[in-house]
Amino acid sequence: TRSYTLAVVPGDGIGPEVTTQALTVLNTVAAQHDLSFDTVDYDLGARRYHATGETLPDSVLEEIRGQDAILLGAVGDPSVPSGVLERGLLLRLRFELDHYVNLRPSTLYPGVPTPLGSHVTERGPIDFVVVREGTEGPYVGNGGAIRVGTPHELATEVSVNTAYGVERVVRDAFARAQARPRRKLTLVHKNNVLVHAGHLWARTVAAVGEEFPDVSVDYLHVDAATIFLVTDPGRFDVIVTDNLFGDILTDLAAAVTGGIGLAASGNVNPDRTAPSMFEPVHGSAPDIAGQSKADPTAAILSGALLLEHLGHPQAAAQISAAVEADIAERDTAAGAQSRSTEEVGEAIAARASAAAAEGVAAV
Ligand code: NAD
Ligand code: IPM
Ligand code: MN
Repeated sequence: TRSYTLAVVPGDGIGPEVTTQALTVLNTVAAQHDLSFDTVDYDLGARRYHATGETLPDSVLEEIRGQDAILLGAVGDPSVPSGVLERGLLLRLRFELDHYVNLRPSTLYPGVPTPLGSHVTERGPIDFVVVREGTEGPYVGNGGAIRVGTPHELATEVSVNTAYGVERVVRDAFARAQARPRRKLTLVHKNNVLVHAGHLWARTVAAVGEEFPDVSVDYLHVDAATIFLVTDPGRFDVIVTDNLFGDILTDLAAAVTGGIGLAASGNVNPDRTAPSMFEPVHGSAPDIAGQSKADPTAAILSGALLLEHLGHPQAAAQISAAVEADIAERDTAAGAQSRSTEEVGEAIAARASAAAAEGVAAV
């Protein structure tokens, strides 16, 4: 048995609800592949903050750094000023652990309800991945405000883009594009306005592209990209973009491919100098927290990305196949809401173990 240590950060709101289901499915599938996860739960988030004032103590960060991977639910709570937990916990983990590839795949599975018209979905499969830069951009916290609260207030959030940071994520995106059948990379930016960062990104894509002659490259301004995500998402294969554009595009991508309840992500450190972290794209959803209404599918699929990252693609595929089978049979009229969070998790876990019992190992 190959055994891994797994840091679990359930977090706030629906985070613990969906993480519980993700762990059930992960452990079910792991057992069938001779893998095991030694989990350590970290009580981080709003409760800890109110109790001690801490968001992510150094000692906890160092402990997490020693684990093989991290599973996170969601972070953020209305009782805590906006940004405290998001920056102090979630972004701190991404930055400190150098999660420079924020991987966000989108696939429209058969039978999944989508706001897209049939004239769009019938054009062909929708299956793309956003490679969102995870450690730079406007997220670094380079900014400030003066004369706060006065009519003369001035606030800045400077987007930081380094040649080093852009090149490494662009190279990763090219490699991913090269490994996919369509071998297509789309850079999304706003280089008609953000000329300094935008041109750095464009030059980097052109230069790194020389190493990947079999990958075709195109470019879209981010505003136009939102059009095509709705009118022709089938055109996308791999999208590479900065931290903020990637954040926004992936909520839209989720919305057009079945909803935020299905969107999984990996905060990946491709150099493996620290553990990577897997989490749903969605947040803590305070509006439905504590009601067992959250769809745990995104968290469960994040477990598949985790297995893939650890080098177990067959185990990962078993989770995706179980999810795909489950969503194919969802009552689309009633939506996922017709079952509780636990029911969805248990149904997917049951499918995953049945698949193994029948020897129908997923492809
Ligand atoms: P959100 O993703 O939490 O919720 C947006 C909408 O989607 C809500 O109506 C919510 O009910 C719904 N939703 C989200 N996940 C769902 C699920 N699994 N099943 C069914 N419905 C789901 O985004 P928000 O409302 O902008 O943010 C709420 C809090 O979460 C904020 O504090 C924000 O900072 C934080 N946040 C955290 C993360 C993260 O931890 N990665 C991501 C996004 C937002
Ligand atoms: C996400 C979230 C985070 C982000 C926030 C909560 C910091 O929206 O994971 O998409 O902007 O990256
Ligand atoms: Mn987001």
